[in-house]
Amino acid sequence: MTEASAPGKVILCGEHAVVYGKPAIALPLPDVRATAHVRAAPAGSGITLLLPDVNEQWSIAAATDHPLATLIQQTLETLLIIQPPDLTITLRSAIPIASGMGSGAALGAALVKALAAHLGAPLSPAKVARLVYESERYFHGTPSGIDNTVVSYQQAIWFVRNLGDGPHAPDDPNRSAALTPSAGVHRVSSVIEPVSIARPFTLIIGDTGVRAPTHVTVGGVRECRQREPGRYSALFDAVEQAVLRVRHGLATGDLHAVGAALTANQALLVEIGVSSPELERLVAAALAAGATGAKLSGGGGGGIMLALVPDQNTAGQPAAVAQALLDAGAVRVLHTCVG
Ligand code: MEV
Repeated sequence: MTEASAPGKVILCGEHAVVYGKPAIALPLPDVRATAHVRAAPAGSGITLLLPDVNEQWSIAAATDHPLATLIQQTLETLLIIQPPDLTITLRSAIPIASGMGSGAALGAALVKALAAHLGAPLSPAKVARLVYESERYFHGTPSGIDNTVVSYQQAIWFVRNLGDGPHAPDDPNRSAALTPSAGVHRVSSVIEPVSIARPFTLIIGDTGVRAPTHVTVGGVRECRQREPGRYSALFDAVEQAVLRVRHGLATGDLHAVGAALTANQALLVEIGVSSPELERLVAAALAAGATGAKLSGGGGGGIMLALVPDQNTAGQPAAVAQALLDAGAVRVLHTCVG
C-alpha cells in the first residue's frame, strides 16, 4: 500500500486580485490534511475510489466526468500508462469543504502523489500542481493557480499568476516554477517563490461555518469587474500595495506592519464585495481581542478568516483571540504557527 498526503492552505493576503495578475501570499496548514491510500485490487476490477468521509464508493470507469476520475486519468496519461491498473484508492480529508482551506486542491494533490508513487514514478511538486490545476480549471472556471501550488509545494509561497506570455498563458500558471529550476521546463510562467519570514507568528483561523464555493465568489467578482473596470483595477492595485507591505514586514520581522496591511487588505475585500456579516463579526472580534491584524481568507462570502498574533504579544494571546472568535460565532477555530 502507498500513502501520501497534502496540507490545507490559507491565503494570507491578495486573494481575488491574484486572479488578475496581482501578487498573493499563501501558507500551508500542515496540521489539517487530505490523505490518499492506494493498494492493489483483484485483477480486472479497474480503479475503485472510496470516499469514506462522504460515504461514497465508485468505479472510475463508471464516473468518467467526476473531477477525481478525470484527475486519475490525467495522472495515468502523464505517467504514460495506457491500460488502467487494478487499484483501490481511499481518500480522506480533515479539511472542511468549501471553507477557503483548499480541501479540493489538497485531495487532488494527495491523490496524484499517492497514485504516482504507487506506480513507481513519484512526481515533482510542479507536476503535481499542474495536474491538480488542470482538474480545478476544468471544473471550477478560472482559478489563479495559487491553491494547487501551495498544497503541492507545502511551503509559504509568493505567487504571481502569469497573464500574458502567449495564448495559453492564463490557462496554465504551473508550466514552470522558480522553486523547481530542475523541473526541466524552460518557458517563463507564473512566479512562485518562497517567502522569507524573519519572526515567527501565530495565525488563528476562524470558520464562519457558512459554506461558500470559491468559484461562485470568483464569478461574482468577474461580473462586477466587467461592470466597473476602472474601480476594480484601482482596488486590485491597492491590494497589491497591501501585499507588498505584508511581504516586507514578514522579511524584516515587523509583524505590526504585517497586521496593519492584513487589516487594510480586509477593507479592500469588503469593497471588492466578497466579505459577509459573519466574516466581519469575526474580524472585529479578533481585533478587539488584541490581534495585530485580521481579514477573510480565500474566496470569502463565508468560509474562514484569519487573525495574526505575534508570538510575544501578551495583549493578544492566541487563546484570548480564539475564545473571542468562538464567542462571536465561529464554528471552529484552528491555530497554525508560521515561520
Ligand atoms: C482562493 O483560495 C483564492 C482566490 O483568489 C481564487 C483563486 O486565486 O483562484 C479567491
